[in-house]
Amino acid sequence: MLVLPHSRGEGDAAERAEEFVELVRSAGAEVLAEIPARVEAPNPRYYIGTGKAEEVAEAVRALEADVVLVDHLLSPVQERNLEKLLNVRVVDRAGLILDIFAQRARSHEGKLEVELAQLKHLATRLVRGWTHLERQRGGAIGLRGPGETQLETDRRLLGERVKMLSKRLEKVQTQRTQQRRARLRNTVPRVALVGYTNAGKSTLFNTLTQGDVYAADQLFATLDPTVRKLEDLSCGPAVLADTVGFIRELPHDLVAAFRGTLAEACDADLLLHVSDAADEERERLHQVVDQVLEEIGAGDMPQLRVMNKIDLAGGEPRIVRNAEGVPQQVWLSAATGAGLDLLREALGECLGGERVQSELRLPLSAGRLHARLRAAGAIAEEAVDEEGWRLRIDAPRSVLAPLTGGQGQDVELLRGLLGNPDTAM
Ligand code: GTP
Repeated sequence: MLVLPHSRGEGDAAERAEEFVELVRSAGAEVLAEIPARVEAPNPRYYIGTGKAEEVAEAVRALEADVVLVDHLLSPVQERNLEKLLNVRVVDRAGLILDIFAQRARSHEGKLEVELAQLKHLATRLVRGWTHLERQRGGAIGLRGPGETQLETDRRLLGERVKMLSKRLEKVQTQRTQQRRARLRNTVPRVALVGYTNAGKSTLFNTLTQGDVYAADQLFATLDPTVRKLEDLSCGPAVLADTVGFIRELPHDLVAAFRGTLAEACDADLLLHVSDAADEERERLHQVVDQVLEEIGAGDMPQLRVMNKIDLAGGEPRIVRNAEGVPQQVWLSAATGAGLDLLREALGECLGGERVQSELRLPLSAGRLHARLRAAGAIAEEAVDEEGWRLRIDAPRSVLAPLTGGQGQDVELLRGLLGNPDTAM
């Protein structure tokens, strides 16, 4: 059973309602009825008006609903009052989003983050027994201090679990930072897919990487970033990360709780911002995503915009460039594959920067550098004679620059080729 409050200043109520229904289906619930509720002055007791609350209670009885979902952030007191009146579980927007996140979390870190966010959310709403925590500690009996009520015990156990989870999460995050540093050292460019939920990120991720990440017509099909290698770009290999779908009104403490997931976006060299070109609301949703990116400190990152689903929206695959010729948008269809070649082309240009194409002569004593150049895929052609190797180098500057570290005549030759002593640092 859904309750859909709306007020005059909140934009298109029908569209909001549609999105909430979609979220509820994502969580796996069956919708028995949708009850719109106009709220101009929130009722402190129920958020919705008393008359409306009675109407919901009537519908719950008639349809035998077992949960009521309210498309708004309720205060703990409002949630409790509604539960008392309706006699069924009441879940607000934050609770619903957390539930979906909990179902989709895949990595260890994602699971820890979700549980932590859920516990923090519950901490303010704790009125019933918190039985599964008691079980983990071997039951509350014996733990309860003199005069301590069940509720106080629950709060204390909850606090302990929050502390333990925070500690674990901190450790996982430290490990991740170390992995990130290691990655930065080997300089493979990193691309993160971001976008409003259901824009088609997972589908694009799959077709681009030929992977098998779960893509379904459900919101939040991906929570944890999934990372794959992207081959066949003109700039050399890159790493592509899928991230959680953004939604409007992501409660603030959830943004904080999912920092680890979204940090993937902050950590990239380029954001692929996917929009559903067939959605009339796409510009507004684009802004919602930009706003959340701003909140997590990724507002200034370079972006390439993907206008997806042109099979529905109409139009030809194309690259839109700015006055300097730099790709800004790629129009494509992740489902049919039309325009994917253009996306690869644009990615290569955005990531590769300048390509170095030149002859390089190396003495036979420079075997080590020769091997490193070959391993980096920088040698387009080569021949060898008594003076050494004659190489035709064709590679992005970003691939060659890391090879110019260290001492030696051969490394000097490569530095000379790049013509920039700074790259040796
Ligand atoms: P979240 O995980 O919720 O953030 O969604 P997402 O952005 O990863 O979207 P996903 O790839 O799961 O796609 C959502 C729906 O759109 C699925 O039903 C896809 O089949 C569909 N879809 C994706 N790309 C296209 C496209 O180019 N054309 C059409 N017609 N449908 C598409």
